[in-house]
Amino acid sequence: MGSEFASYDILIVGGGLAGLRAAIAAVEANPKIKVGMVSKVYPMRSHTVSAEGGAAAALRPGDSYENHAFDTIKGSDYLADQDVVEAFVREAPVEVIQMEHWGCPWSREPDGKISARPFGGMTTWRTCFAADKTGFHMLHTVFQTSLKYPQIVRHDEAFVTKLLVEDSRCVGVVALDIRTGRFDAITAKAVILATGGLGRVYAFTTNGNICTGDGMAVAYRAGAGLKDMEMVQFHPTGLPFTGILITEAVRGEGGYLLNNKGERFLKKYVPNKMELGPRDIISRAMITEFEEGHGFEGPHGKYLHLDVRHLGEDVIDRKLPFMRELGREFVGIDIVKDPIPVRPVQHYMMGGVDVDITGASQIEGLYAAGECANVGLNGANRLGSNSLSECLVFGAAAGRAAAHRVAELQPVGSNPIDSLLRDEAKRIEATYLNKKGGKERMGVIREEMQREMDANAGVFRNRDGLTKLVKDLAVLRERFETIKIDDTSRTFNTDLISALELDYMLEVAGTIAASALAREESRGAHARRDFPNRNDEKFLQHTVAFRTDGPAPRLDYRDVRITTFQPQARTY
Ligand code: FUM
Repeated sequence: MGSEFASYDILIVGGGLAGLRAAIAAVEANPKIKVGMVSKVYPMRSHTVSAEGGAAAALRPGDSYENHAFDTIKGSDYLADQDVVEAFVREAPVEVIQMEHWGCPWSREPDGKISARPFGGMTTWRTCFAADKTGFHMLHTVFQTSLKYPQIVRHDEAFVTKLLVEDSRCVGVVALDIRTGRFDAITAKAVILATGGLGRVYAFTTNGNICTGDGMAVAYRAGAGLKDMEMVQFHPTGLPFTGILITEAVRGEGGYLLNNKGERFLKKYVPNKMELGPRDIISRAMITEFEEGHGFEGPHGKYLHLDVRHLGEDVIDRKLPFMRELGREFVGIDIVKDPIPVRPVQHYMMGGVDVDITGASQIEGLYAAGECANVGLNGANRLGSNSLSECLVFGAAAGRAAAHRVAELQPVGSNPIDSLLRDEAKRIEATYLNKKGGKERMGVIREEMQREMDANAGVFRNRDGLTKLVKDLAVLRERFETIKIDDTSRTFNTDLISALELDYMLEVAGTIAASALAREESRGAHARRDFPNRNDEKFLQHTVAFRTDGPAPRLDYRDVRITTFQPQARTY
């Protein structure tokens, strides 16, 4: 094995919106630097592509940074770091206009201005959109823009198995080239993780198969903290069985949620906001309706109705055409004539790699942005449409910060990269490819993990369920050590990739369970039945989980940064 590594100033892991935005920001900050990008899928297949409803930015007359900041902080149940929110709301409009200049086909008003729609928990119309395929169009926009820069070199379909950390500094990654099965060391003075979420630790999720917590897991293993991992978002409207997202924009455009008595039941729970309440509260309201016998029974469990029939075909076809297609293709209904069956579904991870406002983690040279990161923006509950804007704002911030930092850092030498690469290749071969006598089926372990997560770390939690979850995940981890891989070939070995992903998912699921068990209060998306109230005295703090040699993480706590808005009761 020689020492001919691909080597960059900055290496970005993940080819979605945050990663591509970071890459462009880095080369714009310093056109001389070389940026590598490793993605386990072709960038246009990143999960950003499935974002539907829009990107929030205070652009309309009458809106203000203060309003957007307050909505975000209240939405977070006061767990957001307010300096981060203040920076975010100022940059979001700049980024949305930057996207406009790069050619994003935003939906428009008759005068040509970018349209905005109402979204949950926002007090005004500030969600900019491109019909109901906003993520798809934004991803196209940054991807095609990135192609202008020869300094950005992509390694598509390469799976990162480990971060290279030398003398407490991150100096690159080991990546498995999926096409050939070759292990490569790719070195860089700084690495930016932008690998997205972990929704696949749950069975019922809007997340694509690729959302397996990879970036969070490799950072955690390298010694970084994972912050607020108990804060998992459930979106009120997923299609039963598939979990496909029915965008909040359906309610933004005027859709109603109805129970089996035909009632707009949200009047009991969020009377002033109704369908435009925040996701955590609406999801709890829906589960409560199920428990009280007000749900419909279907082949895939209970559900409620989302009704857009009163909007009319013209509005539906103009603003929600993809929803009509999803109804037709996946449920066999026409939403112009039929209500849509929906139920709460795992959608987003507020927690992630603990980073500062520039995206820097506690490990020199390691940055993170987008859903895999926790910069302190979303607290205990993210408002819908803040996440696409977050990918832009904090992707760009991380790209710029890394570009400045690498100017001060020494280049990475080839020693001891050679031996680190060799060790990592041997580890994977011994653990998976050359192992004899494995007996556990990977799919069985994955399904058990997902079932346990759905049952015990869902919309409502309690001590008994979380204690059981912690134990069951530890047992699944032991069983995982004896899995059997059927395919030992090199080329496009999806069996191996699934095993590596399951390894990561078990790692991050453990941090969700432990962090949730320790937070003995209810705040935002973390609703403990045994501790139904928020407890600011004890828990106005971030949880930060660190890996240990034992089965459980070590949990630290850090004060939330409050600048302007003192915590109040959160009513809508
Ligand atoms: O409902 C949606 O369109 C989701 C948006 C988001 O999660 O930001």
